[in-house]
Amino acid sequence: MTINPKQLSGERAAEYVEDGMVIGLGTGSTAFFAIQKLGQRIAEGLDICGIPTSEQSRVQAESENIPLIDFGKVTRIDLTIDGADEFDPNFNLIKGGGGALLREKIVASLSDREIIVADESKTVAHLGAFPLPVEVIPFGWQAIQRLLADLGCHPALRNAQDNTPFVTDNGNYIIDCDFGRIDNPPALEAKINALCGVVECGLFIGLTDRIIIGKTDGTIEERILE
Ligand code: A5P
Repeated sequence: MTINPKQLSGERAAEYVEDGMVIGLGTGSTAFFAIQKLGQRIAEGLDICGIPTSEQSRVQAESENIPLIDFGKVTRIDLTIDGADEFDPNFNLIKGGGGALLREKIVASLSDREIIVADESKTVAHLGAFPLPVEVIPFGWQAIQRLLADLGCHPALRNAQDNTPFVTDNGNYIIDCDFGRIDNPPALEAKINALCGVVECGLFIGLTDRIIIGKTDGTIEERILE
């Protein structure tokens, strides 16, 4: 049987979920396996509520019969399980490859603990090989793109398959910004988020405390923030 490293990490993360928890449900092909496993555990009696980070994860959670809740009813999330596009040794992440970075970052910032699930391909020494997704207001996006370029990147508006602009769950656009190696993620995050018209960028700093890496040899590595 072929080993799927994403399935290994996603399912391992689901083992950290306990009765009574409010769980942030991440987005992407790795978080998919965590949500699927939680659905199985709920069928066996696990009692939790979930807050999805995208319409995609909401649809999956509903199909798995995971009870959902919103921020009108809770102020904190016990644990979030989400994927990443890159992570460095300091647990800094780039997220947003799937376009869900804004809700993912809101949910992460309100979570007591965040577990990142990934395969080995997401491990980097320095962030920046993956172009940084930046969610922007559609109005004036060309001007925002120029301001992003002035920060030292090659920006590109993300398109959907039909070659029209990709629209996020929040009705915004994504500009993918190739900065090359990012030496100071917090400083770059501050500069990007200070631009008028930027809603949020995909740098996740200080939001993660455990990374679970599934490997093609069938093993799992867990990294914990010291
Ligand atoms: C969604 O916007 C992203 O942040 C995903 O969490 C990230 O792209 C990881 O996705 P995969 O698990 O599919 O690689």
